[in-house]
Amino acid sequence: MTKKIKRSLSQIGGPIHREGDASALVAAWAAASQEDPDTLTHGFHPWPARMHPAIARVIFQESGVRTVVDPFCGAGTTLVEARVAGVEAVGVDLSPLAVRLARVKAGFPSPESRAAFVATAKGVAARSEARVRGRVPIHVDLPRPELAHWHVHVLKELGGLREEIRQLERVEERRALAMVFSSILTKVGKQRSETHEEVADRTIRKGLTTELFLRKATELAERWEALAEVAEGPPPDVIEGDARQLARLVGGRRFDLVLTSPPYGGTYDYAAHHARRMAWLELDDTALRRLELGARRRMGFDDAKAHWDQEVSEMLRALRSVLRPDGGSIVLVMGDAVVADQLVTVPDQLERLAPDAGLQVVGVASQPRHAGREEHIVWLRRA
Ligand SMILES: C[S@@+](CC[C@H](N)C(=O)[O-])C[C@H]1O[C@@H](n2cnc3c(N)ncnc32)[C@H](O)[C@@H]1O
Repeated sequence: MTKKIKRSLSQIGGPIHREGDASALVAAWAAASQEDPDTLTHGFHPWPARMHPAIARVIFQESGVRTVVDPFCGAGTTLVEARVAGVEAVGVDLSPLAVRLARVKAGFPSPESRAAFVATAKGVAARSEARVRGRVPIHVDLPRPELAHWHVHVLKELGGLREEIRQLERVEERRALAMVFSSILTKVGKQRSETHEEVADRTIRKGLTTELFLRKATELAERWEALAEVAEGPPPDVIEGDARQLARLVGGRRFDLVLTSPPYGGTYDYAAHHARRMAWLELDDTALRRLELGARRRMGFDDAKAHWDQEVSEMLRALRSVLRPDGGSIVLVMGDAVVADQLVTVPDQLERLAPDAGLQVVGVASQPRHAGREEHIVWLRRA
């Protein structure tokens, strides 16, 4: 029996091998292997295949760029590090959750607003608790199978918190607390993690959901403070849309650098991983379901390899179209793809597809992961 290729990849260090002009890329892997990935606002909310912040930091240091765009910005790692480095940044993602989260993580408020935010979170928790204790009916408008996912007391606490967040007047606080709410959802649910669907063996006592919410709100304020102390640059612009429409989305702006970690082919399914959060937060994920690149749900079919090549080609053309006319670089962080149960390695695929997109691969640095797969940092520029 052939062993199935394991899907998820996690960054675990290991030997680095290089090809071409890859000194900066090797330095980025080396830093990522040693440093804490959860500093500043980075560790606030889980995100499948979240990039290690040291990669962005080292690439900014080594390249000395002034402007960057991350067209698959996810939870906003590049954007937070761009603020620290004083680099002007734009982020794009197809997921409405990513866009909201990246804005919250990279856009810290003033010290007074941070204090007010914690006070507001305490108010939300207290009023929600009073609802639950007073047996005020809480309306949770989720589909019936979804309701079964939660212990009844958790459902009531979540419903109360969400209702109180909805009623907040200050829009910035409402948005940030929605992300705090999102950050605790998996912890209090019955599923093991957002990428593992099996049932978790965890006991959630009454009141824990509300406590976690408050703890995470306080944590966010502390993380904002840590970021505020080191931030040099302006808050990023974060836009919702398909990276393949990048030039239109950024309104014709051009950049010194595209630094991004696109989906790893056949590895994750962001629409499925975040479906529960989207439902609670009432976010419309129709576009993500239709246009998500490399989604595992599309990569089991016989024609999947051609489909993945097509998606990567379209992506490369879009990234090239926003480079500044006299140069610019693209740095991609990507894991090898599993397509129709076959391995498609990133360097092979990019070497094959880059010329047609008017690009050339300058250097690659790679680290091994499990089951013969690797994760790569690839530097491309105009051919
Ligand atoms: C590997 S993750 C990026 C992680 C990010 N670098 C971070 O550190 O959090 C890939 C991202 O691509 C997004 N995505 C998938 N298809 C997309 C598309 N067509 N256009 C823009 N974003 C897309 C997903 O929503 C996901 O956030």
